[in-house]
Amino acid sequence: MKGIILAGGSGTRLSPLTKVTSKQLLPIYNKPMIYYPLQTLIAGGIKEVLIITAPERAGDFLRFLGSGKELGIKFTYEIQDKPEGIAQAFIIGENFIGDDDVALILGDNIFEDDFSEDIKNFKTGGHVFAKQVDDPERFGVVAFDGNNRATKIVEKPKEFLSDFAVTGLYLYDNRVVEIAKNLKPSERGELEITDVNNVYLEKGELTVSTVEGAWLDAGTFDSLLEANLLIARKEGSSIL
Ligand code: TTP
Repeated sequence: MKGIILAGGSGTRLSPLTKVTSKQLLPIYNKPMIYYPLQTLIAGGIKEVLIITAPERAGDFLRFLGSGKELGIKFTYEIQDKPEGIAQAFIIGENFIGDDDVALILGDNIFEDDFSEDIKNFKTGGHVFAKQVDDPERFGVVAFDGNNRATKIVEKPKEFLSDFAVTGLYLYDNRVVEIAKNLKPSERGELEITDVNNVYLEKGELTVSTVEGAWLDAGTFDSLLEANLLIARKEGSSIL
């Protein structure tokens, strides 16, 4: 299994913090944000990680992460010229993925849970992680039937579907590259990860597990602060 961290995007909701640096390099207590999704992949035994960045920020990521030798892993870097959707990661990453399966994680997603067994035991199809939230309309939302099987995934639903948001860690088999290449951009001009999940869902090959611990998508001022507090508490900050 290879890993991709998608760390492009414009971070407009965090402006002016993101005027001179990337959102994913902002501090979360004592480390840059990207360190946390990277830890999630490393815990799953992943040794090769592709970092996808916006063009103007690539040098900053390279300076922070380097070759990966110190961590015992190998980093590869690619540029996403424009934020044209999360699923574009599989097109940009086609050569890197080769014939392998892939775990994609968003560079601003911080998870408390340990997913190492899910990553190590992944076999085929697609697997996503859903978390119960108060504001599901902001995310891709998954509905379940009585047997806890996913029945439907809708991106930012206007009408209530369920309160389970699809979080920013996704496991796929190698077919994801072809699936991504066949997607059409959505109304907002993006290749949607929800469309990838629906392809697997329609084949009956998407499994969903639930996230029990904290999940933060640190893309707003409040969630950035919350992420800082979560990690500061874990690290035993003396001011809390
Ligand atoms: P978003 O939070 O949706 O986008 P953003 O980071 O550009 O922020 P804003 O809405 O404030 O402008 O993206 C979630 C994560 O995915 C974030 O880590 C950036 C990354 N991303 C990309 O790298 N490329 C993309 O095309 C998209 C849509 C997201």
